[in-house]
Amino acid sequence: MDSTTLKRQAAELAADLVESGTVVGLGVGSTAIFAVYRLAERLRQGDLRDIVGVPCSIATADAAQQLGIPLTTLDEHPVVDVTIDGADEVDPALNLIKGGGGALLREKIVAQASRREIIVVDESKLSPALCTRFALPVEVTPFGAGAQARFLQSLGAQVTWRRDSHGDLFHTDQGNLILDCAFGPLDDPAALADRLAGRAGIVEHGLFIGLTTDLIVAGAHGVRHVTRG
Ligand code: A5P
Repeated sequence: MDSTTLKRQAAELAADLVESGTVVGLGVGSTAIFAVYRLAERLRQGDLRDIVGVPCSIATADAAQQLGIPLTTLDEHPVVDVTIDGADEVDPALNLIKGGGGALLREKIVAQASRREIIVVDESKLSPALCTRFALPVEVTPFGAGAQARFLQSLGAQVTWRRDSHGDLFHTDQGNLILDCAFGPLDDPAALADRLAGRAGIVEHGLFIGLTTDLIVAGAHGVRHVTRG
């Protein structure tokens, strides 16, 4: 089965768990978008009613709006009932690397406001240790970005400045830059997360520690739903 089919299977199963009358975090990426499509379909069919979505990126907001999903903000609804989002790498403890699409800051804000964070992936995202197969995205302010690159190198990362499809520096929805940091397999991702959180100029990083409540993984042998604990 191709990876697009697997992504759709995982995302649709998650979207089918959403209940009427809830606030739903709408994630970012090629997997999470299938959940957005499915929620819109359920609304059209009348199987789901009265949800409001909190989009994790401008692109997701645009897609949801076009599909007729009513949107809200965290100011209006500071608590999100359930968020469905993708991930770039998932370890056995359900910790994540996110930010491949550059939306890690909004994604983490929404995840921290969510009662339930459902991560949807195809099985290629599973990994014995974070940073084995995906460089860690770190969002930095343009001011002093070179100093952050140097700091990240001093921690052992091979740093790549993220660029867009035109070859220009990529800017996030907040106007910041992304440094993709290849650290190699991380023994202690929580310790690295703490280290990065303490550095001025690093706005956020793509380590999502202890935020996943549910993981839905689609693979060649079917779809698995794992819950934390
Ligand atoms: C967006 O910034 C990311 O965190 C995505 O959720 C992540 O990159 C997964 O994207 P795909 O589902 O497209 O692989």
